[in-house]
Amino acid sequence: MAKIVGTITTSHVPAIGRALAGKLQDDPYWKPFFDGFPPVHAWLEKVKPDVAVVLYNDHGLNFFLDKMPTFAVGAAPQYHNADEGWGIPTLPPYQGDPALSWQLIEDLVAREFDITTCQEMLVDHAFSLPLKLLWPASESCPVRTVPVCINTVQYPLPSARRCYKLGKAIGEAIAGWDDDLRVVIIGTGGLSHQLDGERAGFINKDFDLAFMESLIADPEWATQFSMEELVEKTGTQGVELLMWLAARAALPGAVRKVHANYHIPISNTAAGLMVIETVA
Ligand code: DHB
Ligand code: FE
Repeated sequence: MAKIVGTITTSHVPAIGRALAGKLQDDPYWKPFFDGFPPVHAWLEKVKPDVAVVLYNDHGLNFFLDKMPTFAVGAAPQYHNADEGWGIPTLPPYQGDPALSWQLIEDLVAREFDITTCQEMLVDHAFSLPLKLLWPASESCPVRTVPVCINTVQYPLPSARRCYKLGKAIGEAIAGWDDDLRVVIIGTGGLSHQLDGERAGFINKDFDLAFMESLIADPEWATQFSMEELVEKTGTQGVELLMWLAARAALPGAVRKVHANYHIPISNTAAGLMVIETVA
C-alpha cells in the first residue's frame, strides 16, 4: 500500500527564482527565508519520498482566463517550466508518473470530483520554485511528480470546504494505491498577500499564525470562512492558502508539526513553511 510520509506547505514568490539564480541565500534580506529550509531537507532525507503530489495554483502560464478549470490534474510523462518574464534560467523538466496520475484521476472522479485532466501541462513558479527549495542540491527534481491545480485566480473560486474535501479525497485515494510507494504531499501558495489595488502590500500576521496553528489540531478551522472573508483576512492572493488546507487534509489521523518557519515580507508576501506528519 502507498504511504503518505507527510505534508510540506510553503509560499511561492517568483523573486525566489532570482534569489536562487543569484545565490543570494546568505543575503540579509533572504537569509531568514532560506534558513527555514535545512530542517526540511533533513526530514526529506529521512522519509525518502518516491513521488510528490504537488497542489498549487497556476498563474496564467498553463491556464489563462479563457479556460480556467476549478481543479486540474496533470497526467503527462514530463512537465516543463517556462521563463515567466524574470529572465532567470528555466529549471530542468520534472518527471511525471502517468500511471499514478491516472490512478488519482480515476479515484477522484469516482469520489465525485469533476476534474480536468491534462496530458500536456506547463508548470509555473508555484510548482518549480518550491521543488527547487526542497531539493536544492540536485540538478533536476529527484522525485516523480503529480501536479494538482486549484483555481485561485479567476472567480468563482472553490470554497475552503471544497478544497478541504479535495485534499481528503486525495489522501484516501493514495492510501488505496496498491503500490509500495512513499508519497509526499506538497501545497504551495499564500500566506497573506495582496499584489494590487488599494490594499497592495497587505499582510495579516495574526491570521497567518492562527491558520498555521490550526493545521495541527483543528485542520477544518479555515473552512468556516467564505471566500470574501478569506480575501478580507488574507488579501486577494492570500487565498492561495487553500493549497495548504487541501494538502493538510490529505493526512489521515492525528498529526504532529515537524517544523515551521514564518518570515515577512518576501517580496509582497508573508512567507510560511511547515512540515506536518502523521503520528505513527
Ligand atoms: C508574489 C507572490 C505570489 O504568490 C505570486 O504568485 C507572484 C508574486 C509576490 O509577492 O511578489
Ligand atoms: Fe502566487
